[in-house]
Amino acid sequence: MEDDAEPTRRAIRFISIVFSLTISSCIGFSLKNCRISLDNALCSGSKLQAVPRDIPSSVKGFDLTGNRITKIQVGDFRNHTALIKLNLKRNSISQIEEGAFADLRSLQNLNLNNNHLPQLGNVFDGLSNLTELRITSNNIITVLSSSFKPLRSLTFLDLSYNNIQKLLVIHNAIQHLPNLRSLIIKKISVRHFQSWELTNSTVGIRCLDLSQNAIDVFNVTTDVFQNLTWLNIGGPYRKQKMTWYLREPKLLSRVATLDIGGIPLENITAFFESFNFSLTSLKMNAMKYNLKELLNVSCTIPTLTKLQIRNNNFNLMDSGLFQLCSSVTELDLAENHIRSIFNDSFRAFLFLKRLNLSQNKLSLVPSAVRNLTSLLELDLGSNNISSLGCHDFAKLGKLNELSLNLNFIRTVKQCVFEDLTNLRVLKMQMNKITRLNGAFKRYLPNLRQLVLHNNTLTTIEQGEFEGLRSLQNLSLQNNHINKLKNGCFKGLTMLTELLLQSNDIRGSEITQEVFKELNNLTRLVLLDNHIKYNSNAALPKPPFSHLFRLEVLAMAGQSSKKMGSLPRNFLQGLTNLLVFDTRNAQILSLHQDMFKYTPRLQKLDISTNELTDVSPHLFDPIPNLLSLYISRTTLQSLDFLNTANLTKLEFLQARKNHYSVITEEQLDSLSGLVYLDLQGNSFTCDCDNLGFIQWINYTKTQVYDAYNFECNYPLHLKGTKLLDLDIRSCSVDVEFLYFISTTCATFLFMLMTFTYHFLRWQLTYAYHLFLAFLHERKHRNVPPQCHFDAFVSYNAHDELWVLRELLPKLEGEQGWKLCLHHRDFQPGKPIIDNITEAIYASRKTICVISRRYLESEWCSREIQVASFRLFDEHKDVLILIFLEDIPVRELSPYYRMRKMLKKRSFLSWPRAVQCTNLFWENLRQALRAEEDPDGEKLQLTVQDSAPRRGR
Ligand SMILES: *[C@@H]1O[C@H](CO)[C@@H](O)[C@H](O)[C@H]1NC(C)=O
Ligand SMILES: *[C@@H]1O[C@H](CO)[C@@H](O)[C@H](O)[C@H]1NC(C)=O
Ligand SMILES: *[C@@H]1O[C@H](CO)[C@@H](O)[C@H](O)[C@H]1NC(C)=O
Ligand SMILES: *[C@@H]1O[C@H](CO)[C@@H](O)[C@H](O)[C@H]1NC(C)=O
Repeated sequence: MEDDAEPTRRAIRFISIVFSLTISSCIGFSLKNCRISLDNALCSGSKLQAVPRDIPSSVKGFDLTGNRITKIQVGDFRNHTALIKLNLKRNSISQIEEGAFADLRSLQNLNLNNNHLPQLGNVFDGLSNLTELRITSNNIITVLSSSFKPLRSLTFLDLSYNNIQKLLVIHNAIQHLPNLRSLIIKKISVRHFQSWELTNSTVGIRCLDLSQNAIDVFNVTTDVFQNLTWLNIGGPYRKQKMTWYLREPKLLSRVATLDIGGIPLENITAFFESFNFSLTSLKMNAMKYNLKELLNVSCTIPTLTKLQIRNNNFNLMDSGLFQLCSSVTELDLAENHIRSIFNDSFRAFLFLKRLNLSQNKLSLVPSAVRNLTSLLELDLGSNNISSLGCHDFAKLGKLNELSLNLNFIRTVKQCVFEDLTNLRVLKMQMNKITRLNGAFKRYLPNLRQLVLHNNTLTTIEQGEFEGLRSLQNLSLQNNHINKLKNGCFKGLTMLTELLLQSNDIRGSEITQEVFKELNNLTRLVLLDNHIKYNSNAALPKPPFSHLFRLEVLAMAGQSSKKMGSLPRNFLQGLTNLLVFDTRNAQILSLHQDMFKYTPRLQKLDISTNELTDVSPHLFDPIPNLLSLYISRTTLQSLDFLNTANLTKLEFLQARKNHYSVITEEQLDSLSGLVYLDLQGNSFTCDCDNLGFIQWINYTKTQVYDAYNFECNYPLHLKGTKLLDLDIRSCSVDVEFLYFISTTCATFLFMLMTFTYHFLRWQLTYAYHLFLAFLHERKHRNVPPQCHFDAFVSYNAHDELWVLRELLPKLEGEQGWKLCLHHRDFQPGKPIIDNITEAIYASRKTICVISRRYLESEWCSREIQVASFRLFDEHKDVLILIFLEDIPVRELSPYYRMRKMLKKRSFLSWPRAVQCTNLFWENLRQALRAEEDPDGEKLQLTVQDSAPRRGR
């Protein structure tokens, strides 16, 4: 029955093998240097010197960042008509061939930043859909005026940090870009900005960045900026004044956002007049001179609402500085050296909503902020504040967001946040807080997010956060927490995310009482603590049994010298858990009931644990698993997958384990796999991996880094690549030759019966002549250096036959020198070494096969070594003697032996009983046969006749 489909299957197999041998690099889905993720080819940082051409043309994104590509050639992106985003930044590209991008008609986004292009020629042909082009930090001096002509859709162009110098070059290039909206030309060494150089090329532009150009002359006489709303002409502080000339003020009358950082203006009043009634946001960073005058003029613009004055070095704020700025609602004073602020400095701001005082030198919350009753956001981060007073935020009842991060706060008083009834976000990370003193026990009913990471908290007291009825996110990571008192998260019924990583939490602190009320928690992060259990015995009160909404539980990186395990009911109650990460948690074993409680689990990471064994039933309760990470788990094989029902698994990462052979059964059990990462395993490079190698070549699964899989065994192939293995000796021999030879044999048989009938005597004579000729030739060959003529491999149960029948015949009568393990093995040496040595020291290996022999492990190991020698040295050394009649189908578990039986013949003792002399003669012939590949023919003839004549 099975054999009905055989020829077709064989033919298909043959065709695909030939196919895979000739064009394997095209149909396989393993990329040499890249991987595909969500339609993106990711090839960054791979030391590539040219664009790889094995990327499927269906990808939408192509990331080649940080390689060593010097040239973009025609054909590099051939057929990539679906590509939308191409990133070539940080290479050494100095040349792009004309037409290299011609096929990229869907491309919208091209990044060529940080390369060595000296100029731009006609290289953008075909990029008619490109909307964003970035070519910053090259060496560009000129741009051909026709260069950008194909870019009809371009809206954003960034040519910053080049050495273009002349505005005219920019003008000539962009005049063909009717849709250009943003032009970024920072630091291109343009000193003069004269509008007559521009004609109509800039009329559509809304956003122009000319910053860091140290412009001396800014001259606008024609209406070239009809749509400009965003203008940056600032830069670092400089002494050189800028000459500013507008023929009439309305030429820039739409500009709403303006940055004039660092520039000394000649005529402040005239300058700001140009922006009266349009300007809403003004940046005057690094002005360092008559700031008062600048503010007194600019603040008369009635539309001005946002003011940024950073980096101006005023350490004492003049109380009248902002007196005219009453319309401003957002004030940014960061990065000055402000030490103190007069109480009435902010008096003018009646409607101030956002105040940024970060990165100054304040040691107290300035009392000037108390009067800003309309304030919504206050940033005091990165100052020198060491304590907070009860009245610091007394009148800020409207405040939504308060940042106090990166200060030196040690404790908080209970009263501090009393009045902040509308506060939603409180950032206090990176201070030195050791105690919370009940500051969160009663107040802040609307707080959603509390950030307390990187402090020095050690204990979380009972009810510590009880007042935070609306809290959703609580970050407590990177403290020194070692005690979680019962009920410490009491009242946090709205909490969805709790971050506790990098503390000193032990397993005993993780109790049911601690997490009791967190009914809405979806994410709990306990990474990098000391959560460790001695055994996998069930806990009387599993810790997370109330967290039925939890989706993510991360507890990787538990540090401690001692290895441990997880209680078998650790996850009890987590019925909605989707992600469980327990990477590098020094776990030695996982109980097979571990995931019984988490039927929805989709992503499981147990990598970097010394799991010597994984029960195949571990995965039975989690059939929805999509991603499995088992890298560095010291697992010897993927056999546990054979019975696991992981048909939905899409992603498997199993790096750096000890898998040497991947079998077809293992691969079959992962039918839904999209991505397989086996990097850093060392493979056995012989026919055992034939199925795997072929699978890599046809599969739709992406096999990450397959081209770099290295052979570890056999020794002489160590360091070569698995995919470079010549698999013809495995597949074509067995499958194809068998197919051809059966066909030919049938045909020959018919021919021979016919000729035999008429030419029998002539034929017999010719046959003997031929045999003699062959023997002659063989004896001319120098015999190889072998101690034994044959190594005899047998099972102890068959010893009697070997000693009584085989030995006297072969050693006594025929004079061969045999190697028997009970007699010739060196004592003390590992048995496998003995076997290997014996097989290599013998010309032939005789396997005495019985059912018992097949059941014994060592014996099948001997067949493995011998057949390996066949592969290794192309020497056929195996002689099979069957002591029992074993039908071929019963050999199916002994896959290799079956293949061998199909390929060549064997001697059968039961069939030879009537004619033992012939049996011994055939054996003698087989032992005499030399092991050059041609010798096989003779062996075939001799042995073939044995069972037939013996009948
Ligand atoms: C060009 O881009 C637009 C979206 O911006 C898209 O709808 C269109 O199909 C693209 N054209 C081509 C030829 O890919
Ligand atoms: C500028 O004018 C020229 C000729 O009148 C025209 O070809 C070009 O498309 C215009 N450019 C823009 C950006 O409008
Ligand atoms: C802007 O216009 C207003 C109202 O006409 C005027 O009071 C103010 O001085 C002007 N400011 C500037 C900088 O020209
Ligand atoms: C494996 O899972 C699929 C669906 O996930 C189910 O249909 C099938 O019966 C399961 N097979 C076994 C052997 O459990």
